[in-house]
Amino acid sequence: MSQPAFDLVVRNALIATASDTYAADIGIRDGRIVQLGASLAPGAREIDAEGRVVTPGGVDAHCHLDQPMEPPARMADDFDSGTRAAACGGTTTVIPFAAQEKGQSLRAAVDDYHRRANGRAHVDYAFHLIVSDPTPQVLNEELPALIAEGYTSFKIYMTYDDLKLDDGQMLDVFDVARKHGAMAMVHAENADCIEWLTKKLEAAGRTAPRFHAHSRPMLVEREATQRAIALAELVDVPILIVHVSGREAVEQIRWARSHGLNVFAETCPQYLFLSAEDLGLDNSYMGARCVCSPPPRDKRNQEIIWRGLADGLFTIFSSDHAPFNFDSPEGKKPGGEEVTFRHIPNGIPGIETRMPLLYSEGVLGGRITLNRFVELTSTNPAKAYGLHPRKGTIAVGSDADLVIWDERTLTLKNTQLHHNVDYTPYEGMTLKAWPAVTLAQGEVVWDEQGFHPRQGRGRFLACGLPTLVPRKSQEESL
Ligand code: URP
Ligand code: ZN
Ligand code: ZN
Repeated sequence: MSQPAFDLVVRNALIATASDTYAADIGIRDGRIVQLGASLAPGAREIDAEGRVVTPGGVDAHCHLDQPMEPPARMADDFDSGTRAAACGGTTTVIPFAAQEKGQSLRAAVDDYHRRANGRAHVDYAFHLIVSDPTPQVLNEELPALIAEGYTSFKIYMTYDDLKLDDGQMLDVFDVARKHGAMAMVHAENADCIEWLTKKLEAAGRTAPRFHAHSRPMLVEREATQRAIALAELVDVPILIVHVSGREAVEQIRWARSHGLNVFAETCPQYLFLSAEDLGLDNSYMGARCVCSPPPRDKRNQEIIWRGLADGLFTIFSSDHAPFNFDSPEGKKPGGEEVTFRHIPNGIPGIETRMPLLYSEGVLGGRITLNRFVELTSTNPAKAYGLHPRKGTIAVGSDADLVIWDERTLTLKNTQLHHNVDYTPYEGMTLKAWPAVTLAQGEVVWDEQGFHPRQGRGRFLACGLPTLVPRKSQEESL
């Protein structure tokens, strides 16, 4: 008997890519898509999508997994639990950060991060770098060598004492990005303003979690965004501003685009679905769950972020999954104590909920098209970090990373999620969709039977250079 033509056929799919929506079967062999078309020959295995939407697997291009922390803080998710949660929520590629400590060589940070990831991931992964100590050795030798090896993006911080760079250091790092065609990502918040405000709040006894948002108002983000844009303009390099939270930073990015600058922008679920009120209206410590930076803003700012997602201002929608348990001495209660907002680890979980939240409220809520959803969650992050077309699309030759969507109503409960975090900030939300099946490299990782683990399925991906072309938002093209 002849061998089946395919290892797996996904039949009757309504395929959605960033540019098209059409009905076809998907033929998969050796973990790749090998044929698209009607009435494909039988496969060794078949899944009937029953006319449901099938998108490329998500690429979560901003998440933190097992990132070394200053004790007692410790991330709740490592490459095992983090990629498990990612897969169950429709994400099949993750790009967390190999973070350089000040005084440490960047190469040592990368080697350490490989040890943490190796053999543990259930879906493919690449690394961004975090450059916190741009010594001449780092700038002239380590970074160029690492870029050539497939670490083609690096994040720099304008805040956090242990990570922040000054303007001169930012210029130096941008210059390396320009010379080698890499992508520089910027956390834009003004450190001195935050410190000044934090001291004032502390002196007034205003130290509950909700005051975290008071210590980082929008102008702090606006000023740093504007400065990062100016520094990038001086060097003549594209940059990507990460986790944009509201109007004032958005205005700076629109200004940059309207002046022809290559400034890309990322936003995250917390700026659509949370507000400063989630940090608490009183002095309750429960608000610590939603402490992240920049902080969530208000309903009007949520609308501004939605508009930027719809009109093309934003390039990427990431989770910024930064997993800390709430009720833990390693998490939001350092050493077991309820601490002042300055000492609460920043970040919230969201790797599993990113895709379902945007599909539910964005696509099914009528705010963005299905194709734009694919572009924001998969295609653009793959292009920005040199993984396209292997990742981020449904095409012959691409990896068979797919999500079959189930459009049904469900109530989100942390007990149903697969991360190692003891809460979700979205507890109780009604969603309109969840992945029915997630395929990673043609293997079922998630379906109605649950999660199908295979640690080591996830491979390290060396990234190419970014292939992103800036797209004018509607307002800019008027
Ligand atoms: O609060 C946040 N966003 N924590 C994660 C680290 C970062 O800056 O992205
Ligand atoms: Zn950041
Ligand atoms: Zn982050």
